[in-house]
Amino acid sequence: MIDSYGRKIDYIRFSITDKCNYRCKYCMPEDGVLDIGHQSVLRYEELLAVAKSAVSLGITKFRITGGEPLVRRGVVDFIKKLKEIEGVKEVAMTTNGSLLKDYAKDLKEAGLDRVNVSLDTLRYDRFKEITRTGNLEDVYAGINEAVKEGLTPIKINVVVMKGFNEDEVMDFVQMTLQHPFEVRFIELMPFSGNVSLNGSLISNEEIKKMLPLLKPLEINDGVARLYTYPQAKGRIGFISPLSSCFCDKCNKVRVTSDGKLKTCLHSNKEIDLNKALQEAEKTAFRDLSPVIEEIKKAILSKERRHSISPGKAVTKRNMNSIGG
Ligand code: GTP
Ligand code: 5AD
Ligand code: SF4
Repeated sequence: MIDSYGRKIDYIRFSITDKCNYRCKYCMPEDGVLDIGHQSVLRYEELLAVAKSAVSLGITKFRITGGEPLVRRGVVDFIKKLKEIEGVKEVAMTTNGSLLKDYAKDLKEAGLDRVNVSLDTLRYDRFKEITRTGNLEDVYAGINEAVKEGLTPIKINVVVMKGFNEDEVMDFVQMTLQHPFEVRFIELMPFSGNVSLNGSLISNEEIKKMLPLLKPLEINDGVARLYTYPQAKGRIGFISPLSSCFCDKCNKVRVTSDGKLKTCLHSNKEIDLNKALQEAEKTAFRDLSPVIEEIKKAILSKERRHSISPGKAVTKRNMNSIGG
């Protein structure tokens, strides 16, 4: 479907839980999140109804996010059913990687196409510091298993922060020399819950200056601008929502675990899908028109661009309840 600014919307992100086994400083409060209660969380059959409705409007690409999506029970079976829907071309997942070692095989069998793994540091002590609870070994094991199972191409998401991991940029580039990964350097986005990190933003323009041998590729990959390094097996992506906003090419909407459709990551406007889903359930989800109508209206009301700037958050939600 085409939105009011002529953009083709063909990608939806489902945040299936706001819970996570990590507590990354830029994403989540140290104490975790208040339990929104089972009742408010969309059931898988409701998410599948949203998916079918979205497909009827031309959405073909699905991404499962969290919190950490692998902490929600039943996720493998959900992915299997999602992938079986006619018209669903791609189902991918963004994960912290910690549980991939145990899940990669089942996810592949269920039809998951690929994973993006969040990994901000390659140093054990720093990994503990940023995730507050994580263990780097688990993530390495998870990535290895994902490679083995063919959940590829694997993309590694690195949020670069001044005074924290900017000195590891070259180490991440090294990763692309040895492995066919796409390492993406992401500018830290301001959310209301991470204002204490406001001074940590480092522009991707500064990162590029550290890498004089970078060669731009003629292709783009979603929100990332792509480059390679001489002799690399993989590639490097820059995701620059602050220094080089990509909103004019935005092709996506999001659904939160409590059933709110968000037309922009940084907007407070939320379209509640719950009522439409209750209507549809009366027909055992055979008549999805109430849900389809809500999604259509939402897409037509999609913002032209975000209005964040360095240090200025807009949305009241934190990243863990939107999923990126
Ligand atoms: P691919 O399908 O592999 O291109 O994944 P993706 O980049 O769409 O998803 P991922 O979850 O890996 O997101 C990488 C980073 O890009 C995260 O920091 C997201 O928050 C950010 N991101 C993704 N889409 C958008 C967007 O539309 N707007 C903004 N501002 N950031 C986005
Ligand atoms: N700014 C930029 N990226 C973020 N992510 C989480 N919080 C932020 C933020 N404040 C990234 C994570 C994950 C993806 C979903 O979003 O690294 O890979
Ligand atoms: Fe969890 Fe991802 Fe947030 Fe880290 S960034 S706390 S892994 S949801």
